Amino acid sequence: MPRGGPDAPRWDRWFETSRVEYLDRPDTPDEGRRVLRGLDRFQRLTLGYRSFCRLTLQQVRGVATPEILELGAGLGGLARRLVDRHPTARVTVSDVDPGVVGALRRGPLGAHPRVTPVVLDATAIDAPDGAFDVAVLTMSLHHLSPPGVVALLGEGTRVARQLLIIDGWRHPAYLAVAPLLWLTGGRPHVHDGLISLRRLYGAPALHALAGAGAAAVTVRTRFVPPGYLVAVATRDADGRRTADDGAHGRRSADAGPHDRQTATGCPHDRQTADDGPHDRRDADGDTRDRCTADGTPPPPPSPGLLP
Ligand SMILES: C[S@@+](CC[C@H](N)C(=O)[O-])C[C@H]1O[C@@H](n2cnc3c(N)ncnc32)[C@H](O)[C@@H]1O
Repeated sequence: MPRGGPDAPRWDRWFETSRVEYLDRPDTPDEGRRVLRGLDRFQRLTLGYRSFCRLTLQQVRGVATPEILELGAGLGGLARRLVDRHPTARVTVSDVDPGVVGALRRGPLGAHPRVTPVVLDATAIDAPDGAFDVAVLTMSLHHLSPPGVVALLGEGTRVARQLLIIDGWRHPAYLAVAPLLWLTGGRPHVHDGLISLRRLYGAPALHALAGAGAAAVTVRTRFVPPGYLVAVATRDADGRRTADDGAHGRRSADAGPHDRQTATGCPHDRQTADDGPHDRRDADGDTRDRCTADGTPPPPPSPGLLP
């Protein structure tokens, strides 16, 4: 499965790389730590955590004491902001790397009464069904293989009512962030950031992978400025495909023209029972999601975009 999706054009397949990030290599722990610190600076500088927090809290609007699971949390910037911004939210902040979780436990989050740091693999989540109102994964989807993404979609929608995925939007124009990567994290951050940009999943790939798992998962995707792919995945109550669902499943973007439009059409088509009219506007009322055609590139990047 090409990262750009099953029908990715030739240029997109050429753009993709099989190079491995320092963060994913066991033999480069020092570079990996520098990348995480650089990414944390980058998110703070570009207001990434603010956007991630707004998008996460939108998903639990109306829930008095939301249970939030953060997967692949890295240095925990989103979890910190979530408990700062929501007076009663409880956050389970997790990562697959025990060293990363150890640092979270030793830091301010480890002492916070509403935060629980745990080691969790996003593709095999050790938690009961329906334990969380929302599970969120930011800037990490591209670290998973296609089978890993299928597992994430099944597991995230099993343990949480909805799975929110935020990653960079796949388009070569975003390579223009390289100077900012250098400023925030030096050479290791440039290395991993540029590889990330070339390994990002496009929306069509995510829809195709949602149709490949055992669980009937619905994925809705949209472009959020300045450069995010935002996906919300949910599953049916019984959570299982039936024989009638077909190879791609009735809930994937591949299931039919209506679903394809729902997944990638205009915001009106993407509204769910949980969405309010404000969902297309941020808390400050200054940002709107952008309609995109199926897999077509967004407008050129603006300053402050993310890899
Ligand atoms: C690029 S960092 C993103 C950190 C943070 N979410 C952010 O937005 O800045 C990717 C993180 O995902 C973690 N990760 C990679 N594979 C994972 C998996 N299968 N399950 C959970 N976490 C994973 C890595 O250890 C790393 O901390």
